Amino acid sequence: MSVLEIRNLHASVEDREILKGVNLTLRSGEIHALMGPNGSGKSTLAYVIAGHPHYEVTEGDILLDGESILEMEADERTKAGLFLAFQYPVAVPGVSVANFLRTAVSNVRGYTAQPLEAEGRSGVIGSNLMPMREFRKELNEKMKEFNVDPSFARRYLNDGFSGGEKKRTEVLQMAMLEPKFAIMDESDSGLDIDALRVVADGINKLATPDRGFLLITHYQRLLNYVKPHYVSIFYDGRVVMTGGPEVAHMLEEKGYGWVEREFGAEAVPA
Ligand SMILES: Nc1ncnc2c1ncn2[C@@H]1O[C@H](COP(=O)(O)OP(=O)(O)O)[C@@H](O)[C@H]1O
Ligand SMILES: [Mg+2]
Repeated sequence: MSVLEIRNLHASVEDREILKGVNLTLRSGEIHALMGPNGSGKSTLAYVIAGHPHYEVTEGDILLDGESILEMEADERTKAGLFLAFQYPVAVPGVSVANFLRTAVSNVRGYTAQPLEAEGRSGVIGSNLMPMREFRKELNEKMKEFNVDPSFARRYLNDGFSGGEKKRTEVLQMAMLEPKFAIMDESDSGLDIDALRVVADGINKLATPDRGFLLITHYQRLLNYVKPHYVSIFYDGRVVMTGGPEVAHMLEEKGYGWVEREFGAEAVPA
């Protein structure tokens, strides 16, 4: 059982404060949806959790099982069990999906070459990469399980991928990396219904008791296929309300204008 705790988190980008005191707790076995209007800072929160160097944390903390992760580099956070699926995944021409995944999985599982110096020899034994045959076997199994066409393995990462193909690749990546917490930023945006189902099925399969999810979304569409335990509303750099799935339905009905009237600068305190 793991806990990811975000405490009074403030963060700035280019000296502009975007996150203004975020409090949010994720636990393994739970799916937490975070909904909010465009520009409220949802992606910024995802980047800050992932450790993107562009964002400066000015106050507060992020604790994974009680330990602050703020001093960790992005790759150390991945190794510690955090996974972020970006809203806009970058294309990496020249790097195949298989090679990318092999490197990522090897890093997370701690494959390291051993120097032979101790034996008075030069060079290293082993490799920083998971053995190819083992990796291939696992990749093929996961591709089958998550309905990803085997031809994907050879394609360049996200290069010319449709929105749905990028999301499939993310699900595959998550299946291979087996994170403790997966943060998915707008994994539903711009997807047709079939692609949405693939993403939702992937999340549902991966939503095991030892894993937690933060599903960042603007619309409640994805939540028709993935049932969240909690839904939080994000507005102007902070969580303003948390409840059950009914919160998503209420938002669908009342729209974000209601959030603005209720929690915006002009709101009249109750
Ligand atoms: N790299 C950046 N440089 C400057 N401003 C940024 C950057 N990233 C985000 N912002 C600003 O932060 C605010 C929140 O953006 P974002 O986190 O993308 O919101 P959301 O994902 O909720 O739509 C926006 O006003 C945006 O312009
Ligand atoms: Mg965003």
